[in-house]
Amino acid sequence: MSFPARRLRRLRATPATRRLVAETRLSPDDLVAPLFVRQGIAEPRPIPSLPGVFQHTVDSLCTEAKRLGSLGVPGIVLFGVPERKDPFGSEASDPKGIAQVALRAVRDAVGDDLVVMADLCLDEYTDHGHCGLVGPDGRVDNDSTLERYKEVAVAQAEAGAAVVAPSGMMDGQVAAIRAGLDESGHSEVAILAYSAKYASALYGPFREAVEVTIAGGGDRRSYQQDFHNAAEALAEVRLDLEEGADMVMVKPGVTYLDVLAAVAASVEAPVAAYQVSGEYAMVKAAAERGYLDGEAVALEQLTALKRAGAAFVLTYFAAEVAELLGA
Ligand code: PBG
Repeated sequence: MSFPARRLRRLRATPATRRLVAETRLSPDDLVAPLFVRQGIAEPRPIPSLPGVFQHTVDSLCTEAKRLGSLGVPGIVLFGVPERKDPFGSEASDPKGIAQVALRAVRDAVGDDLVVMADLCLDEYTDHGHCGLVGPDGRVDNDSTLERYKEVAVAQAEAGAAVVAPSGMMDGQVAAIRAGLDESGHSEVAILAYSAKYASALYGPFREAVEVTIAGGGDRRSYQQDFHNAAEALAEVRLDLEEGADMVMVKPGVTYLDVLAAVAASVEAPVAAYQVSGEYAMVKAAAERGYLDGEAVALEQLTALKRAGAAFVLTYFAAEVAELLGA
């Protein structure tokens, strides 16, 4: 009888051994919670396709932010849902717009205890649902959109955002926003660029959360990346860093671990990953049916994102997992 020369199972024998040799550790420090705030509601509203996630009032948003802070989560990213939408997404840069009102309130509530980030885009605010301005030819116009992004960045910085996170995938958006912030005296505000953001069917529940329908059954494939491609993600990341991004992101996360690993290996800046709404909803739906253990899958997926190189993860599981990890 011959015996294996090396026994890898020795280091898997007990929980303590496994803990001792674990390469990747997940902690609440790794998590950022995406939060939605809706104008014109008196009570928080559940989002049916995202169990456990709400459209918040300004008050309930502040309460939730404080709760996340006490669970050890270091950051939130805020999405505003306005009552009124128009072709220019005017509410996105209005100092009295819902996102700005909420940023001010949440910053007052948490100060510097949490990193308060603002998603910077127009789609929640435009009546056509695109992330940019639509020209007379029906296409999303790159350069006029950059002017709007600058205005939104300045409004968000003035309302107290410590980080702005442009998610619109226009070319040159990071340079435009950096210039807008610097020219208005907000050079301390950092940019987390959604650099490698793919046109994905996994954003479905998010669009319910922010009440966005793209006009005419359209899609975002003329500005978000094609999921057949990985190399251009490296180009997107390089350009964003050259334009002044402080941190970059790969999105979706779980479905794009190869892209995340390649990006993380190629840059020195922190790389974030976004476990998006569809990735969260799949786990929740399957867990509700008893097909799998939702908490176990959440821990496995979030650890996988870190193992692939994420410095931190934007996830709707933030509070739930922080609670689990702290227990
Ligand atoms: C655009 C934006 C989207 C998401 C974050 N920012 C949607 C889109 O590009 O259509 C998706 C997040 C998610 O699915 O969880 N402002």
